[in-house]
Amino acid sequence: MADKAKFQAIKGVRDILPPESALWNSGEQAAREVFGTFGFAEIRLPIFEQTELFARSVGLDTDIVSKEMYTFEDHGHRDIEFARKFALNTERYLKPGYPFGMERFLQAVDAFVDAVEGAFSGDKSLESRANKEALLEIKQATSQMWPLVTPDGAVTNEDAFRSFAIRIVFRLQSFHFENLLTLRPEATASVVRAYIEHGMQVQPGNVKLYYMGPMFRRERPQKGRYRQFYQIGAEVLGTSDAPGIDAEVIEMLMTLFERLKLKGTILNINSIGDKNCRPAYVEKLRAEFEKVREQLGADSQRRIETNPLRVLDSKLEHEQAIIEKLPRIGENLCDDCRAHYAEVKRQLDLRGIRYQENWRLVRGLDYYMRTTFEITAPGLGSQNAVCGGGRYDGLVELLGGPAATKGIGFAIGTDRLILSLQEAGEGAATGGPSGKAGGPDVYLAWFGAAAQTAAIGLAKRLRDAGFVVELPAVEMKFGKSLGLADRLKSRHAVIVGDDELAAGIVTVKRLSDGAQQKLAEPELMSYLRA
Ligand code: HAM
Repeated sequence: MADKAKFQAIKGVRDILPPESALWNSGEQAAREVFGTFGFAEIRLPIFEQTELFARSVGLDTDIVSKEMYTFEDHGHRDIEFARKFALNTERYLKPGYPFGMERFLQAVDAFVDAVEGAFSGDKSLESRANKEALLEIKQATSQMWPLVTPDGAVTNEDAFRSFAIRIVFRLQSFHFENLLTLRPEATASVVRAYIEHGMQVQPGNVKLYYMGPMFRRERPQKGRYRQFYQIGAEVLGTSDAPGIDAEVIEMLMTLFERLKLKGTILNINSIGDKNCRPAYVEKLRAEFEKVREQLGADSQRRIETNPLRVLDSKLEHEQAIIEKLPRIGENLCDDCRAHYAEVKRQLDLRGIRYQENWRLVRGLDYYMRTTFEITAPGLGSQNAVCGGGRYDGLVELLGGPAATKGIGFAIGTDRLILSLQEAGEGAATGGPSGKAGGPDVYLAWFGAAAQTAAIGLAKRLRDAGFVVELPAVEMKFGKSLGLADRLKSRHAVIVGDDELAAGIVTVKRLSDGAQQKLAEPELMSYLRA
């Protein structure tokens, strides 16, 4: 027998099955409710974007962009590729003595030009400067070549024709239709892209948005770290950078964690300065690292050039003593940043939010400035950050939006949130196909064709009333049917047979203790509710 392929989920990617999915739903539902009370509304974003969006916002030197993104070429232009190949093939027949090939070549090039112009009008991103120049040169060449073709298909000046043809071939080859797309590794870039694209800056007050869904990073899978993972995130965009916004965003997070009974969280905060003070601090760090270059690991040595701040993130044992002696960003902030940070802390105090200052909290994405924060939760092992966020004034401008727009936000790692809740024993009670504790409320056993008709109607009315009902699709023997009711952990078996139909009642059996009685439908409803 031939081997049957056994498919498995891809490494680092997993299924979330019932009853765990019920815990996910209640976590996400709590986020919707809590965020709603803070005036946030949901934005639903695409799963993939132009690669360039992430490269520019998250930063080329970050781990995410340099090694973790799932990027692919979008093959949306097969017609152009086909026309190009066809034109290049006909060029091979441009030999002395085959004049008819020349007309065919020109027709093929014209077909290519038509395909490209059609694509340009539908997708402006294809219209790069290089592509526009190439198209112009091809059109100029063909406009000079057509007059060389005589009505009977011959060519008057073959040499001139061929030298134009060589230029065309070169230009045909230089066209570049690559459209690089990336599965989103995070969603802040997408929110900012959407904010700009839809001109949301005209809305009154701050624009407050939340999102939830999968993100993709090619990281080494381990507990709490997946290649497809989920985030619940929120962003505030507007012209104000008041520290009260930073504190309220954090308050909203803590409110959600409290609602979910996530215990033992620790909030770490820091300020990483802005473009006025950070560059000088980074230079200071670089100079310090140069002095100890040989003692640093390979990653940190590379980061001396690319991003010395990230060395502060290092978990390498032997680098810790070196890092502890470094100058600290807090002592190198400019006056504005220092005042902003002090006020963020005061605003957190006003809200009764406990925090730890962690001068080494720099975060792994380039768009951050000033406030950064991370929240750890217990039960997660080494991947213990359940949430990360910070301020990113300047990102909107970097992506082509209004310079005055400021931003701050966070993303919770939903996988880690759920893991931490499970480790703490929260949500363990969920069960059954509906996610309700203990399986269906009612297992509706029917016997005979007439009883099936009655059972279908009763099941509908029970479900409309909110009960979880399991209705067997085919008739079963009494013992087997009730056995299944037991195994599904149903709370009650409701039995409809000929006797019940004749009497206009049902038999209801409580499966926990076997207590049984005969009830008419209205009494059944109140009995089940009790
Ligand atoms: P991030 O720190 O890269 O920030 O991710 C936020 C959270 O997502 C992490 O704290 C972690 O809980 C979770 N996470 C990240 N990678 C993985 C993974 N491979 N597996 C499981 N969970 C993971 C951001 O993404 C920013 N966009 C947050 C933000 C929003 N900053 C401002 N606004």
